[in-house]
Amino acid sequence: MTFKRHTVTAALPYANGPVHIGHLAGCYLPADIYVRYLRSKGEDVKFICGSDEHGVPITIKAKKEGITPQQVVDKYHKIMGDSFKEFGISFDIFSRTSSKTHHETASEFFKTLYDKGVFKEEITEQYFDEKANQFLADRYIVGTCPKCGNDNAYGDQCENCGSTLNATDLINPRSTLSGEKPVRKKTKNWFLPLDTMQPEIEAYIDSHKDWKVNVLGQCKSWLNAGLQPRAMTRDLDWGVKVPIEGAEGKVLYVWFDAPIGYISATKELFANQELGIKNQDWELYWKDKETKLVHFIGKDNIVFHCIIFPAMLMAEGSYILPENVPANEFLNLEGNKISTSRNWAVWLHEYLLEFKDKQDSLRYTLCANAPETKDNDFTWKDFQAKNNNELVAVLGNFINRTLVLTHKYYNGKVPAALEYTKGDILLMEEISKFPAKIASSIEQYRFREALGELMNLARLGNKYLADSEPWILIKTDEKRVQTIMNLSLQITANLAVLMEPFLPFTSKKLGAMINLNNDLKWNDASRIDLLLAGHQINPSGLLFEKIEDETVDEQVLKLKNSKMLNEAETNKSEVLLNGDNAGASSASAAAAKADITFDDFSKMDIRVGTILEAERVPKTDKLMKLLIDTGIDKRIIVSGIAGYYIPEDIIGQRVSVLVNLAPRKIKNIESQGMILMAENNNGELSFVSPTKDNMNNGGAVK
Ligand code: MF3
Ligand code: ZN
Repeated sequence: MTFKRHTVTAALPYANGPVHIGHLAGCYLPADIYVRYLRSKGEDVKFICGSDEHGVPITIKAKKEGITPQQVVDKYHKIMGDSFKEFGISFDIFSRTSSKTHHETASEFFKTLYDKGVFKEEITEQYFDEKANQFLADRYIVGTCPKCGNDNAYGDQCENCGSTLNATDLINPRSTLSGEKPVRKKTKNWFLPLDTMQPEIEAYIDSHKDWKVNVLGQCKSWLNAGLQPRAMTRDLDWGVKVPIEGAEGKVLYVWFDAPIGYISATKELFANQELGIKNQDWELYWKDKETKLVHFIGKDNIVFHCIIFPAMLMAEGSYILPENVPANEFLNLEGNKISTSRNWAVWLHEYLLEFKDKQDSLRYTLCANAPETKDNDFTWKDFQAKNNNELVAVLGNFINRTLVLTHKYYNGKVPAALEYTKGDILLMEEISKFPAKIASSIEQYRFREALGELMNLARLGNKYLADSEPWILIKTDEKRVQTIMNLSLQITANLAVLMEPFLPFTSKKLGAMINLNNDLKWNDASRIDLLLAGHQINPSGLLFEKIEDETVDEQVLKLKNSKMLNEAETNKSEVLLNGDNAGASSASAAAAKADITFDDFSKMDIRVGTILEAERVPKTDKLMKLLIDTGIDKRIIVSGIAGYYIPEDIIGQRVSVLVNLAPRKIKNIESQGMILMAENNNGELSFVSPTKDNMNNGGAVK
């Protein structure tokens, strides 16, 4: 079946934190590649997203930061929107669920179902915190997991063993608001009868055998377990008010309102367009059978997009249903689950501070390593390898050689293809197949495969240059070189068009270098006359830069440090939460580390030393390069003290030095050991040095 238009959505991210690489790899990047490809094919497509601003995650964040939920969502809506823009995620609209249009749309939707008698009203017992005087959402209740005994399982899930729980399953439940034991209290809510809708839902899913295996797998397991009615209203005060009588103090369940956010955002998109387009046109993108609706999400959203939202749409009756839901699995980071609360993440806005203008390096790595069929791991080493060995050495290298030779031999004017050899003709046939090959992978949501094919085109180009050696032929057969360079330039132009969905920044840069007509579309890339003989190209530069060892080493270090800091923070706040009155000083000290043996301790060789020379490490705020007399030798140590000392003041300072720490490169300087520093609650540093003057350099600290 062919479609007239496309509505493509990417999961509305909770506005409770900035965007990290897991978000990007999970759904925004594949969605963006898909949409950019469709646009290049000349398809009519709307790419819809926005922030999910309701639900308990927002209220929890507000409590943590000591601000209102509205302040939380305002802050993160902006940060998230900026990050997406900076990474070229080309939404047609990035709206938000706190908008007026959304509140109206979600409310009306609920009302329609209510008037049709879809909901079942039910009185259930929910946990209630008498001290805080409110019902407790699952996330506000912790207790002992009945499956694994973890003492800090949440009311909906145990993060230790991964089980899905009901709040009432928890042993010794307590409220995270007051720490009190919650009581059960009766309350009325409105349920979507998924149980009676199961046959319809099952038929819908069965009609989509082409969905990804991981997606169908989860759907099947929900269906096999038997669907249960699910409450679409909650006893909370943050969200879309339930628009019926007798529902005071209740809001729509966030998973009811959020997916409707896709619809409201589309409405807003059309309301924003200049005159001439009817506001009503949004309906074509949601109600016309010739529209293909595709939701890009991460795996934790599967049931909501494949079962609950379609059930809502079916019950409403006038909407089309999702045609596909290509969910990705999770991306891990350096072998561990990405975690916002433990600060184990690579944040997009921070990435850009270190890797300015290198958005495409990250887009490339995340696509090449996308968790399409199983969880995958992002490592900085792999990022470096993909950048250096693939972007620089394959794609960049081919294009660079082509452009440099064109400038050198022909002053940047595209030479004519004079006479094709048999090999050339085969090559042209090969080239012409790439757009369809890459397209087919993209249309099946296999973005890694698609990117691999794009790189194969660059490899083909490299091989052509290596085999035909124009730099040697130029001395004996200049005419042949004209044809070789012409074909290499055509491949370069094709690459510029075909890389656009994956590497939009590079595509633009390359397009400008070769003066490529901006209107070229996907299907043009099968041709070998994109650059006509005589066409002048512009001065060229490198498309990608190598990333050095120390740059990625620093990122790994930063990750570990921030995690450590965060753990210290967490310990601190736990002490406060537990009402430990031991005083400010002990409250802000990090908790003790785990016990070690005397053997562990005696592995450390700590000596008294003296600072002989000190200078700041250029282009850093914190680092100082020190020359230390350790009594054993004189050595360089890089230390993070530049925020607290000035170099002149510390010459002659006695210090304690860990001398047998394995050397590490910091900012390209080999640091041979570590200076011990004391730190107070304000983060100020002090040297740890002997209090007697007669302690010679090299004396052991033990
Ligand atoms: N906010 C949810 C999350 O981050 C996703 C919501 S997707 C939508 O997991 F369907 F609700 F929009
Ligand atoms: Zn458990």
